[in-house]
Amino acid sequence: MPDWLKDAVFYEIYPQSFKDAGGDGIGDFEGIIQKLDYVRDLGCNAIWLNPCFDSPFKDAGYDVRDYKKAAPRYGTTEDLVRLFEEAHHRGIRVLLDLVPGHTSEEHPWFLESRKPESNPLSGRYIWTDFVFKWGGGLNFISGEAERDGGYVINFFKCQPALNYGFLHPSESWHQRIDSPDALSTREAVKDIMRFWLSRGCDGFRVDMADSLVKFDDENKSGTCAVWRDILGEIGKEYPEAAFAAEWCSPWQALSCGFHMDFYLDHLGNGYNTLLRDYKSGEDHSYFKKDAGGDILRFLRDYLPRYNDTREEGYISLISCNHDTQRPSFNLGKRELEIFYAFLFTMPGVPFLYYGDEIGMRYIEGLPTKEGGYYRTGTRTPMQWTKGKNMGFSEAEEKDLYLPVDPAPDAPDLESQMEDPSSLYHRVRDLIRLRHKYPELGSDAAFGVLFAEEKKNPFVYRRGSMIIALNPSGQEAFAPVPASGRRKVYEIGQGRADDQGILLGPQSCLILK
Ligand code: NOJ
Repeated sequence: MPDWLKDAVFYEIYPQSFKDAGGDGIGDFEGIIQKLDYVRDLGCNAIWLNPCFDSPFKDAGYDVRDYKKAAPRYGTTEDLVRLFEEAHHRGIRVLLDLVPGHTSEEHPWFLESRKPESNPLSGRYIWTDFVFKWGGGLNFISGEAERDGGYVINFFKCQPALNYGFLHPSESWHQRIDSPDALSTREAVKDIMRFWLSRGCDGFRVDMADSLVKFDDENKSGTCAVWRDILGEIGKEYPEAAFAAEWCSPWQALSCGFHMDFYLDHLGNGYNTLLRDYKSGEDHSYFKKDAGGDILRFLRDYLPRYNDTREEGYISLISCNHDTQRPSFNLGKRELEIFYAFLFTMPGVPFLYYGDEIGMRYIEGLPTKEGGYYRTGTRTPMQWTKGKNMGFSEAEEKDLYLPVDPAPDAPDLESQMEDPSSLYHRVRDLIRLRHKYPELGSDAAFGVLFAEEKKNPFVYRRGSMIIALNPSGQEAFAPVPASGRRKVYEIGQGRADDQGILLGPQSCLILK
């Protein structure tokens, strides 16, 4: 386990939309380099960069055409290496986004694999042996290649699945997970990882990490075996490298070599109940002021995950990511502040999505861009200033990757920096607090002190510190004796004595 994760706070950057230094309307590496001081001053000491490799961008870069080449629209591979160096000078680590489950249909491996003549890459993807054969719970594309067979896709049509084999081969065209073709896919992934790690990248966020081995891999033992091999080997060569899984089952992901696993927004799971529990029509999100949310719905799902895995690695809570609606879609400023107090005082390694620190909005109704569909509204340009294109780019408005938030009161960083009561300052203060007290870090002990059905506050401890949250609009009391403790942070109003902790409406108290 890399030691630096204990104090890591990540900032996710969607490179298309962060900062355009070249003036062509799309973000680039140089733009990110120019903003590294900003990232550091916010308190983030690590970055997750969404895919920035050569790609036809039918799924925003998750359709990779060349894993070892930076996408020219962001700069050169050398520019990306410079970004690593500049980040390191500022004490910031950089994770790239590894997409091991599929490539673009334009990847040279696939162009070879689809040929009718047998060749060394014929088995790099999953093909049936007869074009009219499909089914078995997988998604196939047939009739597109001269090769007599259909191929499995992992996500969109443009993303053929790489072949890591089947755990229980049951058809003539199913290969075993230790077949030569499946093993050579693994080696190809290790080769890509070495390529970037040897150039200064600090690890990977791994896309759809649970998707490698095909059916019937229900408990993921096949996919886990693949990762144990890959991460075991690479981890020995690069012990400081960090690996974050997009998996959402930490008991699986962390046991096979990942250091972090994201707690994703799956309908009805614990994370979903915090911010985005509005899909049923009624809103019951815990951090929504008067929605009558219930922290036990989060804890019932979270605590077993945490207790089962705390010795092995970290559960990563997120403000949002490039696939979810931004938290400000549902929460107002004070609601967000209390949510951020939670995000930055919980165990595990937290991730903040660019722009969430100023409450950037989810923009509804945008036409889909690069396979974004509803996700497009979360991927609009960072709002740096009130100036042209909100400081994102000097390009003509019509040339922007996506429009900036058109609202007259769209939040911008510059104004929030000048306003000590802004969300930006709140987020920065909370991240600073996390760095100041190791007891708020990733691995310090966590325990629930007060949590009752449909009641507030929610009170928990990290080491010897106590955090009390009351997102509701009413005063809330918890009989948790706390005399002799010092307030180290407060939102709204709170009081602690030997009787317990009393919080005013929409308040938070952090005690030491
Ligand atoms: C998950 C990524 O987060 C998402 O953006 C992408 O479309 C799919 N995986 C496919 O790679």
